[in-house]
Amino acid sequence: MTDDGGRQGVGEATAVFGVDIGGSGIKGAPVDVERGALAEERYKVLTPQPASPESVVDAVREVVRHFDHRGPVGLTFPGVVVGGHTRTAANVDKGWIGQDAAGLFQDALGLPAVVLNDADAAGIAEMAHGAGKGRSGVVLVLTFGTGIGSALFTDGALVPNTELGHLELRGKDAERRASSAARERHDLTWPEWAVRVDEYLDLVDRLFSPQLIVIGGGVSRKHDKFLPLLKEREAEVVPAMLRNDAGIVGAAMAAGAAAVR
Ligand code: BGC
Repeated sequence: MTDDGGRQGVGEATAVFGVDIGGSGIKGAPVDVERGALAEERYKVLTPQPASPESVVDAVREVVRHFDHRGPVGLTFPGVVVGGHTRTAANVDKGWIGQDAAGLFQDALGLPAVVLNDADAAGIAEMAHGAGKGRSGVVLVLTFGTGIGSALFTDGALVPNTELGHLELRGKDAERRASSAARERHDLTWPEWAVRVDEYLDLVDRLFSPQLIVIGGGVSRKHDKFLPLLKEREAEVVPAMLRNDAGIVGAAMAAGAAAVR
């Protein structure tokens, strides 16, 4: 143990790095996992199109190399990830299906890498440092963006890869109707979109009876535009607190946890 009780300074070689791989941007930063905050300003590159595994791996390497980082790296992926393998790719290049993503990043970076679902990463960060902090029982973190991501917790433990954005709503994939991208695609007003979100929340409510629903994703920045429009429900519905940084922080937390196992 060192003098600081075993904690490492964030600038040191053992700091943990988080990368959030999204449909439009790939952003990363070293993370202070104790505080649940970025240790340095994040660096972002545009997601290559098509976002094939090779081009995304190159872009991630550029993001990580921007910093002098030599410790573990956690990365989010917008699809199902089991044991570091990417299994689905609803909104990204289908070439990701069946890849050993953790292996690809590990080889390309020469650093230990952990890959997890993007909503699960955001959820982990919100539970530890944000809107779900200290909350027991069933908590559902939902991210509204290009798709709808979900992270389900019971007494703080994550059930990974719940993929609740693909529940059926009015005969369609729910995220096609109620994601933030659907609001833009269909040019919906906030009240019109809120009706769709309510319908979706009714559905997840019926299935999981959460005590708390945390609304994250890019649109959570504008929560004052739609949260007050949602109907009253048993579950408390609150905006995410870490906003844009939740994925990076959660990915780094997962990598940090894996490193000490
Ligand atoms: C994917 C999920 C992802 C969500 C948010 C969905 O289309 O299937 O894995 O978490 O989008 O990016």
